[in-house]
Amino acid sequence: MATFLSSVLLLVLRTYAAPPEHVQVWPGGWTQAPGEAGNETLTPSLVPPPGTAQHAPHSIIIGVRKGGTRALLEMLDIHPEVAAAATEVHFFDWDENYVRGLEWYREQMPYSYPHQITVEKTPGYFTSPAAPARICAMNPSIKLLLILRDPTERVVSDYTQVYFNRLENRKPVQAIERMLVKNGALNTRYKAIQRSLYDVHMRNWLQYFPLRQIHIVDGDTLIRDPLPELQRVERFLDLPPRIHASNFYFNQTKGFYCIRSDGHERCLHESKGRPHPPVNGTVLRQLRSYLRQHNRDFYRLIGRTFNWH
Ligand code: A3P
Repeated sequence: MATFLSSVLLLVLRTYAAPPEHVQVWPGGWTQAPGEAGNETLTPSLVPPPGTAQHAPHSIIIGVRKGGTRALLEMLDIHPEVAAAATEVHFFDWDENYVRGLEWYREQMPYSYPHQITVEKTPGYFTSPAAPARICAMNPSIKLLLILRDPTERVVSDYTQVYFNRLENRKPVQAIERMLVKNGALNTRYKAIQRSLYDVHMRNWLQYFPLRQIHIVDGDTLIRDPLPELQRVERFLDLPPRIHASNFYFNQTKGFYCIRSDGHERCLHESKGRPHPPVNGTVLRQLRSYLRQHNRDFYRLIGRTFNWH
């Protein structure tokens, strides 16, 4: 609890500098025109590098929220043949964006060279009832990446993210047990729990895409040992092997792997890998037991098991 409280304090002291991931910034690949340096507000006078163009994605990271989607995208972006969208586009899950049409969607993509593939990630797609049909309508042979972690752990991570967002927006917060339990029973309508019902969401995707088109990344393994997971993704996307052990180093302070690429070292934003609050043991057991059957059903659907308790 002490670490959780101290990180809450840190957050309050900091200046909330990072934009939420869905806030649109200029797509990656743009270069600044001469004379623009130091300009605080980005203007449309930015020019794309010669020989580049914007393309609809070749692959989409569809989720799951808090599964490690940012880590996966940033790590995949090490690959010289990958152009990753800078922000979450929310095209297939937000109606107000979907009505803008595919041309608008393409315009949100990074500028890429002809030898590169475009990858976008929006974790909300996995749990969106509309997203699978819409993505299929755009490209039925698209390759989908789904990163999952222990669904109980994911619930706590989801709560933690909302908790910090509410703090930032000076909204009241509640203890996790207040969200997980209603009238003495597990509150199965709590959105964070609903999002962890992987079997329910997966069934919807499998109505539109064969399993071989959905590569599942083990988010728990990605935290402990990212390279093998990234190598599997390279093979799934038919990319030559260009991501190596030297691209990762463990940062003791952050407690996570960080990225070394093009002579630069960087860790994920501080909102990734935050300490979780302690959860009452009885409530946690109730949650685990509720998710157990859903996990089994999910294993059956995908023909693979995970070490989720
Ligand atoms: P926590 O912050 O709860 O630990 P997403 O990007 O989908 O929101 O997922 C966030 C999660 O990515 C983090 O959840 C963290 O556990 C996980 N993660 C995986 N690899 C990471 C890395 N190298 N650095 C930071 N977080 C990482």
